[in-house]
Amino acid sequence: MARIRPGLRAALAVTAVIALTTALAQSSSQASPSGPDGTDDHGRPIYLNPTLPTQYRVNDLLRRMTLAEKVGQMTQIKVGELRGDCNGANGALVASCEQKVLVDAHVGSILSGGGDYPVDNTAKGWAQTTNGIQHYALDNNRLKIPVLYGADGVHGDNNLVTATMFPQQIGVGATWDPALAEKMGESTSSTMRATGVFWNFAPVSDLSRDTRWGRYYETLSEDPTLAGSLSAALVTGMQAYDGKGATAKLTATAKHFAGYSEPINGHDRVPAQIPVRELQDVFLPAFQPQIDAGAKTAMANSGAVNGIPVHASKFMLTTELRQRLGFDGVTVSDWADMASLATKYHVAADYPTAIAMSVNAGVDMAMEPADAASYTKALIDDVHNGLISQQRIDQAVGRILKLKFDLGLFEKPFVDENTADGIVNGAGLDLARQAATESTVLLRNDNKTLPLSTGVHKIVVAGDSADNPSQQFGGWTVNWQGVDPKGPTPPVVTPVQGIKEAVPNANVVAATDQASAVAQAADADAVVVVLGEKAGAEGNNDKEDPSLTAAQQSLVDSLKATGKPVVVVLMTGRPLVLGSVAGAPTLLADWLPGSEGGHALADILFGKANPSGRLSVSWPKTVGDEPMSYDQLPGTNGGASSGYDPLFPFGYGLSYTSFATSAPTLSAPTVRADGKETVSVTVTNTGAVAGSDVVPVYVHQPVSPVLVPDKRLVGFTRVDLKPGESKTVQVSFDVSKLAVTVGDVDATGKREVEKSAYSVVVGSAQAPFTVR
Ligand code: BGC
Ligand code: BGC
Repeated sequence: MARIRPGLRAALAVTAVIALTTALAQSSSQASPSGPDGTDDHGRPIYLNPTLPTQYRVNDLLRRMTLAEKVGQMTQIKVGELRGDCNGANGALVASCEQKVLVDAHVGSILSGGGDYPVDNTAKGWAQTTNGIQHYALDNNRLKIPVLYGADGVHGDNNLVTATMFPQQIGVGATWDPALAEKMGESTSSTMRATGVFWNFAPVSDLSRDTRWGRYYETLSEDPTLAGSLSAALVTGMQAYDGKGATAKLTATAKHFAGYSEPINGHDRVPAQIPVRELQDVFLPAFQPQIDAGAKTAMANSGAVNGIPVHASKFMLTTELRQRLGFDGVTVSDWADMASLATKYHVAADYPTAIAMSVNAGVDMAMEPADAASYTKALIDDVHNGLISQQRIDQAVGRILKLKFDLGLFEKPFVDENTADGIVNGAGLDLARQAATESTVLLRNDNKTLPLSTGVHKIVVAGDSADNPSQQFGGWTVNWQGVDPKGPTPPVVTPVQGIKEAVPNANVVAATDQASAVAQAADADAVVVVLGEKAGAEGNNDKEDPSLTAAQQSLVDSLKATGKPVVVVLMTGRPLVLGSVAGAPTLLADWLPGSEGGHALADILFGKANPSGRLSVSWPKTVGDEPMSYDQLPGTNGGASSGYDPLFPFGYGLSYTSFATSAPTLSAPTVRADGKETVSVTVTNTGAVAGSDVVPVYVHQPVSPVLVPDKRLVGFTRVDLKPGESKTVQVSFDVSKLAVTVGDVDATGKREVEKSAYSVVVGSAQAPFTVR
């Protein structure tokens, strides 16, 4: 490490302020600053020396910055303002637009919203755009602070039409496979990095609890342990650095913090009412693992919780997110949501007040204010008027600069335009196929119709999603609302294509309407019906009646009437209420499986793969069941009228083989509240084909002063077993997972683990333990 030439007095003065909330004081006390110039041995400004500790670099840069330069770093503007008409129109980057945003307003971050891609929507086209922006910024800004470019890569690098699409998160949830999620995160990250995008607004850690909500498919699970461990794995993968393309690193985003998924009437961004106890014991724990995994950024929830917009909530963004969950990265607003405090929620009288509320609550950067000039001016005025302190500005900017240093952006601001296509095109296809396969849940196989014989002569493939890439991908694919059926499509294998490939000698008939499907079924060996939903995103995708349509049900009914074996495949972004299809003897949940969906489905239909997906959500019987989750609290009626009575429960899923699971044994009969418990079970494949079993481990608490669910998931594992094979597997969990917010209805108590009796539940067997 180069020796720090003295020269940090001023920087240390800034440090002293920031140290209030971070641990800077420690690192700065190791320096021996004395000179005035803030340069290293080579006469280079300290902040440009990558061998120095990040905090020195942050302090050195901060002290050189004007207020205008600082607030520019707190601003993220959509790429549309840099090109075309400087206002969203697509086209080449335009220098005069770049001047306004990157130079006049000193903006430090640019984003592509859903569907905001360059005219040349290839990896090279993206790389040219991000490099172009970076060049403009570095060439024209005094301090040479690189721009950080962000986009949503929620199921692969999904705005990029040549990229491989992974299953949407609801499918990832059904895999119960964090190791696979980590690989998907890595793949998405290497693709995005190759194009110069170093900030991914993913994963989503909102819980899936209301199928009416248009963003249901973006969630992983209704359960915080499952959602938490999968999102942590995605973060770990995304933030891992494989050095491919020698780019800077990428940051993931914990979003949307928090309580976004429970709009009270199911409509996107309608306020949620979540008791503080439930917020702390159910919703926030879904975020903890990825914060522990080092997620460097978090995005605030657009919605309001308990009458307070989250963007104005210091309780949510500072007390909970930072002080209790331990997040120490950058918090970004959601789309235009500082302004929303004035224009939509009316908790602020005007824009400057809205900005001050949000920044003081804990938002460090505004995503997409309407225009850079008015936002940065209002923020500067806020400082001059005393609405926001200079310390708070330094704290926010210090976090943002630290992020840029940690990602290595100062050293590697550009990407290689000529290698981008090679890194992106075709990458991740095997992973996409594996993920789609593992996410498929066999819900029913009453007549052992599956797997189908590869010797079939004729198969009819019907249904609206049998050959429909747009529906197969869902929203956030190329465009915000999904692939335009008339526009370009990412690489894709549909069910029709996958089945044709799997049985090249069979007559595979793709029926496009009900009458022809029924007519063709007459001499077919089997019918596969793939039912889906129109692609959509956010509020546009809300559904007051999240059920299969009458036409979909009628198609299945008429095919059933032919007496032929009918396999119903639900290629949907939520567990739709099935109506008459609920009785189908052969039923698969396929979710929104992405590019390799057709291959994966064919692998399962013809037995090349054995279904191993398990529901990460509860499948409702009727629309009125929602919101529904397995961990609903006990009531006094009992029975189906108030109990948990889904069509298929959380964790459900069949296989072509059968498994036997032993009773659990525990590492310790007594544990401390801050200890760990390890559960061992032996799983045996008792059937005739190889398969993977998922073993969920729950804890039951017989008596608790605060209501707790009958059982809570604390851990799980997947086991791959050959026929006849047995394996003993271990699942460990932190006893702190059992913490609940104590106290009366007002939930003013602490979160703590009740010292009492518990038992571990695996299958129908239990093993007792005590927390001391
Ligand atoms: C969504 C976010 C997304 C952002 C940028 C917002 O409307 O709520 O999830 O990251 O747009 O596309
Ligand atoms: C953007 C999305 C964003 C949405 C918010 C769209 O124009 O492309 O990313 O989520 O606006 O309303």
